[in-house]
Amino acid sequence: PAPGWATEADVVVVGSGVAGLTVALRCAAAGAKVTVVTKARLDDGSTRWAQGGIAAALGEGDTPGQHLDDTLVAGAGLCDERAVRTLVTEGPGAVRRLIATGARFDADEDTGEILLTREGGHHRSRIAHAGGDATGAEISRALVAAVRAAGIDTVENALVLDLLKDGSGRAAGVTLHVMGEGRRDGVGAVRADAVVLATGGMGQIFSATTNPAVSTGDGVALALRAGAEVSDLEFVQFHPTVLWLGPEAQGQQPLVSEAVRGEGAHLVDADGVRFMRGRHELAELAPRDIVAKAIMRRMRERGAEHMYLDARHFGAPMWERRFPTILAACRAHGIDPVTEPIPVAPAAHYASGGVRTDLRGRTTVPGLYACGEVACTGVHGANRLASNSLLEGLVFAERIAEDITGGPRPAGAASPAPGPAPARPAAGRPGAGPGGPPLLASEARYQIQHIMTHGAGVLRSAESLARAADRLDQVQDEAVAELRRDGKTAEPGVGTWEATNLHLVARVLVAAALRREETRGCHWREDRPERDDAAWRRHLLVTLRPDGA
Ligand code: SIN
Repeated sequence: PAPGWATEADVVVVGSGVAGLTVALRCAAAGAKVTVVTKARLDDGSTRWAQGGIAAALGEGDTPGQHLDDTLVAGAGLCDERAVRTLVTEGPGAVRRLIATGARFDADEDTGEILLTREGGHHRSRIAHAGGDATGAEISRALVAAVRAAGIDTVENALVLDLLKDGSGRAAGVTLHVMGEGRRDGVGAVRADAVVLATGGMGQIFSATTNPAVSTGDGVALALRAGAEVSDLEFVQFHPTVLWLGPEAQGQQPLVSEAVRGEGAHLVDADGVRFMRGRHELAELAPRDIVAKAIMRRMRERGAEHMYLDARHFGAPMWERRFPTILAACRAHGIDPVTEPIPVAPAAHYASGGVRTDLRGRTTVPGLYACGEVACTGVHGANRLASNSLLEGLVFAERIAEDITGGPRPAGAASPAPGPAPARPAAGRPGAGPGGPPLLASEARYQIQHIMTHGAGVLRSAESLARAADRLDQVQDEAVAELRRDGKTAEPGVGTWEATNLHLVARVLVAAALRREETRGCHWREDRPERDDAAWRRHLLVTLRPDGA
């Protein structure tokens, strides 16, 4: 649809988690005119839900080098070592600057030292946390307050549709569908010299996920349609311990942080046997993929739908002080972790891949940046190390802001607006008409989730993936047939665009997972159970052809 309104900025940031808001703050501090657009409210999105914390070599005796080693091991041979080195060396400073921005981490009452815990794959205590297990909520609070205090322009309830490009193919802004935001309502555009995607993840392609409802892969879908390269989409991380709410549970599920295991909780089966012992030197604190696989295996062996996390020995005072959010969530579902083990099972948690970037956050489309979960900077490889994601958002946000602004410049120095003529939508937007894929009905979301959970979930095979690919094609074929029959596509709106984005991302993910004929990190092919370094120590890069293929 043609934009009904347009505004201008130097930089448009799409998304309002740790990555987006940090880019916005740093660009604004350097004098750029910034607009932040976000799909729901500023504090919605995944950052707010992060529990365990943010990893950085802040503790005595810890070093960036040790953090690097743990990250590389978790990444199973596919991390970009330069990107990891950047993350771990710039990480401690970035956390200190976050504290200076207003975030309050848990600290020792006497010494004021930040308290650090452990999580899976870390050989050291290096996870800073806030409010016990509400780290993301505190970071989000602090950043939203800072953005408001800085007077940065924000547009909420704004689903991003597509990238605008100028005549040379450079990013020139975005189109949006906005609801209930007064003068900027309906379909509009923000024209800008630089576009930063910070739209978060895509957990909603699966039935059960720790991700909020807004995590529908919009940024990856936009980037694909704009011709940008995406990488490593097959590496979806399943968090080992998500509160099990029954076989039909759908949508966002309560997370039980790895920090609970970091503080000494045990994984047990229905007989109370600690099955992680003897499987890995770190037992319950092995990297996440290993723990998730061990849980799945034990579930299979036992014909069980879940395992248990036993932390009764913490006692009520520790539960209340250290894990108040998890305690409340469990109790809200009728489980008291103080007196009974918590039923847990893996669920989709994090996209290790995304829109490919360099070390300055630049994608393969000039002027288009990606930051946070939507990006593939190379730091996660085949499996993200716990609590590296908030850190990645922070560190690369600062780098992107520096790249865009090139250092400080005078306040209000917005560059001339690109004007309507040269800015045009990138090819292949949803519902683009002849040749373009039609918009899918909102309800297709549930079909896609079902297909992906059964065909491309934590356990995959060539057969299950091929079936998933066929069924995803059918979903689109039905929409095409309807378009031919009735001459119309689904009504444009948030639900239809989200379903269309989920479908595109799912299709690419399944194609990549089929192609990678090995097991590595969080990509577990039952028919190819071994890691194959000779053939597969490499990345799968995907770009979409203009016809959507
Ligand atoms: C957790 O608290 O277990 C999640 C940490 C993460 O995903 O990095």
